[in-house]
Amino acid sequence: MKICCLGAGYVGGPTMAMIAHKCADITVTVCDINESRIAAWNSDKLPVYEPGLDEVVQGARGKNLFFSTDTAKGIKEADIIFVSVGTPTKTYGANAGKAADLKFIELCARSIAENAESSKIVVEKSTIPVRTAESLKTVLAANSKPGLEFNVLSNPEFLAEGTAIEDLNDPDRVLIGGEETEGGQKAVEALVSVYARWIPRDRILTTNLWSSELSKLVANAFLAQRISSINSISALCEATGANVDEVAFAIGKDSRIGPKFLKSSVGYGGSCFQKDLLNLVYLCGHFGLPEVADYWQQVVSMNEWQRNRFTAKIIESLFNTVNGKKITMFGFAFKKDTNDTRESAAIYIGRSLLEEEAKLAIHDPEVEAEQIFKDLEVPATEEDGSPSKSVTLYKDPYAATEKSHGLAILTEWDSFKELDYQRIYDNMMKPAFIFDGRNILDHAKLREIGFKVYSIGR
Ligand code: NAD
Ligand code: UDX
Repeated sequence: MKICCLGAGYVGGPTMAMIAHKCADITVTVCDINESRIAAWNSDKLPVYEPGLDEVVQGARGKNLFFSTDTAKGIKEADIIFVSVGTPTKTYGANAGKAADLKFIELCARSIAENAESSKIVVEKSTIPVRTAESLKTVLAANSKPGLEFNVLSNPEFLAEGTAIEDLNDPDRVLIGGEETEGGQKAVEALVSVYARWIPRDRILTTNLWSSELSKLVANAFLAQRISSINSISALCEATGANVDEVAFAIGKDSRIGPKFLKSSVGYGGSCFQKDLLNLVYLCGHFGLPEVADYWQQVVSMNEWQRNRFTAKIIESLFNTVNGKKITMFGFAFKKDTNDTRESAAIYIGRSLLEEEAKLAIHDPEVEAEQIFKDLEVPATEEDGSPSKSVTLYKDPYAATEKSHGLAILTEWDSFKELDYQRIYDNMMKPAFIFDGRNILDHAKLREIGFKVYSIGR
């Protein structure tokens, strides 16, 4: 069997590497139109930072795992084609800021139709609006060579970044949606047989196409909703003297609620939650359900409020002005153990502080400098070629806090817990403030050292 995947991103790369790792007899080719991304997948420094990914890729690359820019060849040779391209929120025209932009998906369908010389199973791996498979089938049927059959399956990906390898190795479930026709069911069985090599059969769920497509959006909406719910309660905790981590622990002990995804924070980030919620809101509106749309919109609004509340707290604590002050940000990635910054709370908080004319000192163990300047929309150099005066990046966390007025913890990297905070305190301006946006530090100890500490929900 030969598999091709269009899109070598955070999902396509790790997912296909795991299939190749588990199925030595299947040849897996991951194709992307981005040449530098493919070059990186073929190099020693992979474009995606994920614990355990290097080993999985190195074990299979060149044997049954290949990365290539030749999408036409990949398509021609494959029996199963995964589509794992981006489906970002539309930024132009009608429904900008709400609907998913499906241009990359449609281009893949056209490319498959143009290049296929035999029948194919086409798998939606990207997260897409419910009923996208219908459009895919129409484009494939209208543009392909006569006599070819295309069976479209939905197989959404549930991995979380930072734990992608664990999640792929031992997923809670794999979901496969297909048509109830004979061809559709055969295609479902073919894909089931791939995953069944390492995943127990009772964890491979099969449904109709629309249930599978919609389940992905709903899973992300429910996860994001839990974070917005606990974040809303964090504000109430601050007003009443309750401690949000204690409340989360207490309610999480109820087996009906469960302990996961109740960590209050500066707000969720990542490429999925916001985009998929906005898409769900858009779909509800489109299908004439404004009350349902409003309900889910509130999850997004609460997240924005939580981020703004945190920034406001920094400014207010620093005597209502951060103008010209050095503010240190520990963490720029949207969560620990990834170099991904998409929709990271740090971007929004950083931009707001820059608007207030603060000087940012940023330390993140994995995010590339170029990415941080791009996200903050600040040139890395001034017009005269000297380094940026408003944003400085530091490899050394101690240098980043030297003469700083305030330190904001924005990503929960483990390394931040192990630093010498007495040394940091000694080097900071006084009073020295810490704003722990992830509640990961020992606040009693920090107060003992002399810090003024603001935490979430306490
Ligand atoms: P990404 O931006 O990292 O990767 C997408 C890749 O597709 C890019 O490298 C791009 O160059 C490539 N591409 C675009 N058009 C192409 C074409 N015609 N042919 C070949 N390659 C093409 O995106 P991602 O994070 O991997 O997400 C992909 C999809 O998976 C999205 O729909 C996303 O919602 C979904 N998803 C993401 C995650 C996650 O944690 N990142 C988890 C689950 C699902
Ligand atoms: C999410 C989904 O979890 C995953 O199933 C889906 O496939 C893609 O989207 P991801 O965005 O990679 O995964 O990471 P996730 O662990 O869900 O974290 C998302 C954001 O929520 C991060 O910013 C994280 O810090 C934040 N978060 C998570 C909290 O603030 N509190 C929590 O309790 C959990």
